[in-house]
Amino acid sequence: MNILKGAIAGYGPRKNVVLGLVRLASTSSSGASSSSVKDTAITEDEMSHFNALASSWWDVDGPQRILHKMNLLRMDFIHTTIREHLQLNEPNTPVEDEIYVPAYGLELLPKPIRNRIISEQENKRDEILGKSKLKALDVGCGGGILTESLARLSFIHSVKGIDLSSDVLQAAKVHQLKDPQLTKLQYELKAIEDLPSNQQYDIITMFEMLEHVTYPAKVLEEALSRVKVGGWVFISTINRDFVSWFTTILMGEHLLNIVPVGTHTLDKYINQTEIKDWIESDSDRSEKYKVVRAEGCIYLPAYGWKFTENPNVGNYFMAIQRKK
Ligand SMILES: C[S@@+](CC[C@H](N)C(=O)[O-])C[C@H]1O[C@@H](n2cnc3c(N)ncnc32)[C@H](O)[C@@H]1O
Repeated sequence: MNILKGAIAGYGPRKNVVLGLVRLASTSSSGASSSSVKDTAITEDEMSHFNALASSWWDVDGPQRILHKMNLLRMDFIHTTIREHLQLNEPNTPVEDEIYVPAYGLELLPKPIRNRIISEQENKRDEILGKSKLKALDVGCGGGILTESLARLSFIHSVKGIDLSSDVLQAAKVHQLKDPQLTKLQYELKAIEDLPSNQQYDIITMFEMLEHVTYPAKVLEEALSRVKVGGWVFISTINRDFVSWFTTILMGEHLLNIVPVGTHTLDKYINQTEIKDWIESDSDRSEKYKVVRAEGCIYLPAYGWKFTENPNVGNYFMAIQRKK
């Protein structure tokens, strides 16, 4: 019963709804950018929590096994989103060289024609990605589970992983040395706002990170301002709802011990609609950025991670593209 007390004490839906909106609406505690504590900083509690996990970060059956298991799904999400949204025809492509992109559903066409169009489009996607050299930034990279996988993608030119937990980053650096092929990868102990603002990236990832920061809007703003036109910000985080509390805190932490107790705080979860609304509520932001894809996902202990039909419940992935 004591086990449940801790979990249940953290569930206060009315209080949480208010806090979540305030969290995303506010960009700083004081509004003073000269404050010695940065708005994108990690709290002491979060830092010691993650530092304590550093030595077991790469144990695929250890406390971070849920992140290891999530990696396949997130790589799939990143890869398919980028691939599906490639511009198949550059603006001045001669008509005879253009890849045919029908303005209507391909399923209306006879199968042999449909298959030929799909095959031409897929070949073009392979060709474009084969020539691409994308720069990626992984914010809150932890021990580098996603960072290393990104660096192994053939169309990635370089990856920078940043985090504020020094022990965790050290675990990332040590693990990198195990694979001499990982030469495209570099780690830095840095807050995102300390990266030069003229360093722009094609891909910025923030996986399982926003629910640990005090001012998520500030971190999002810093990330959006560093993505190139046409580039992507990929996020995974958690809706602030009963299902999330049940799966990530009650089951995940207290009953099944999938992650250590204290990993999550319901108040810090952010609904995917809040991120969408935050982008759309500002005309500059909504002109430049668009939420192109959002998918719910769930961890099934006997199976692993799986996409769900509903991004508004539980965990979710989101892809934001910079339009101009
Ligand atoms: C749950 S781990 C996720 C690690 C990694 N993104 C992954 O999914 O494999 C959260 C990470 O975010 C980092 N973090 C938390 N707040 C941060 C902040 N304000 N700036 C940078 N990193 C932060 C923590 O140190 C920790 O390594």
